[in-house]
Amino acid sequence: MAETKSPIVDIHTHVYPPSYIALLKSRSSIPYIRSFPPSSSLRLVILPAEDTESTSRGRPVGPEYYDIKKKIEFMDTHSIDISVISLANPWLDWVPADQAAKAAEGINDEVNEECGKFPGRLFAFATLPLSGGKDVIVKEIARLKELKYMRGIILGTTGLGKGLDDPELLPIFQALQDAKLPIFLHPHYGLPSSVWGERANDYGHVLPLALGFPLETTIAVTRMILSGVFETVPDLQMILAHSGGTLPFLAGRIESCIEHDAHLKAEGKLGKGRKTVWDVLKTNIYLDAVVYSEVGLKAAIQASGEDRVMFGTDHPFFPPLEEEGGKWASVETNYEAIKGALGGGSKEERAALGGNAVRVLNLNSK
Ligand code: URA
Ligand code: ZN
Repeated sequence: MAETKSPIVDIHTHVYPPSYIALLKSRSSIPYIRSFPPSSSLRLVILPAEDTESTSRGRPVGPEYYDIKKKIEFMDTHSIDISVISLANPWLDWVPADQAAKAAEGINDEVNEECGKFPGRLFAFATLPLSGGKDVIVKEIARLKELKYMRGIILGTTGLGKGLDDPELLPIFQALQDAKLPIFLHPHYGLPSSVWGERANDYGHVLPLALGFPLETTIAVTRMILSGVFETVPDLQMILAHSGGTLPFLAGRIESCIEHDAHLKAEGKLGKGRKTVWDVLKTNIYLDAVVYSEVGLKAAIQASGEDRVMFGTDHPFFPPLEEEGGKWASVETNYEAIKGALGGGSKEERAALGGNAVRVLNLNSK
């Protein structure tokens, strides 16, 4: 596709490259891929809440998950010029420690090569060998600078096992800051199944996806803010999935709770050098526009700024339930929200659709 002055860029779009699919097929506990007789079609089971005996166990997994040509077809159908692809959850979080380095190298090389098949149209967020420990992770971060199409890394919320406020993660955040690689923070684990109640199986995947995911992200970032990560690593850049979960909406409440906390005051944590939640939202955080409504998107824009929101689709998740061909409602809803919030044809709309991503992720150089 010819390069346009104002490209449409999808920064939230996933792949499971063929080698990852093979790994999943070799497993029988989450995450795994298998068929459930009498049906012979393969299903992908990645969330604890979906690994139950019910009609909604996992989800069908077809070539749109692993065939890069399907990604390009999807992009063409939806007028997307550039995609920044990322391994889908749960990444390499579950890989045994001694296999982590090799697994990450293999996946990152494979994804980088897939991007090279469509130069200018595909870039990627890499995956870190989290279970391998600090030295292995920092080594892979250094190696990523040599991979032509890598523009950041995708990260879940567990970090090294204790969450993202773990002091052990600081050297890793520092290495990412120094390498100028932003973190695309994405949920996977949700909330404990007990919060969904006894009837959870009656409700398909709605509760964990609609509420568990965004709350997981909100909690993870709030813990980072409370632990002082953004003062210690002041230029760390993060792109938050799903418009930051509920962070834009709750920022005022979080900030007020901080300001009124006697424990934090007694510990001397409310002094001058503190970055407020609003400071962090405006200097360290970018938000994708995968929130499916103008109301949520306006909150994101007000919280971080119209120069910090970026279009995304979450492809290949949320396809139409009926085989329709053509455009996906989940994508069109996000396009409509951007248009409604920023005005059709405005320069702010063009920035959210692609300009911001090109600037922040340096997508002009291939
Ligand atoms: N979107 C994702 O990225 N992952 C899921 O598991 C579901 C939706
Ligand atoms: Zn996603």
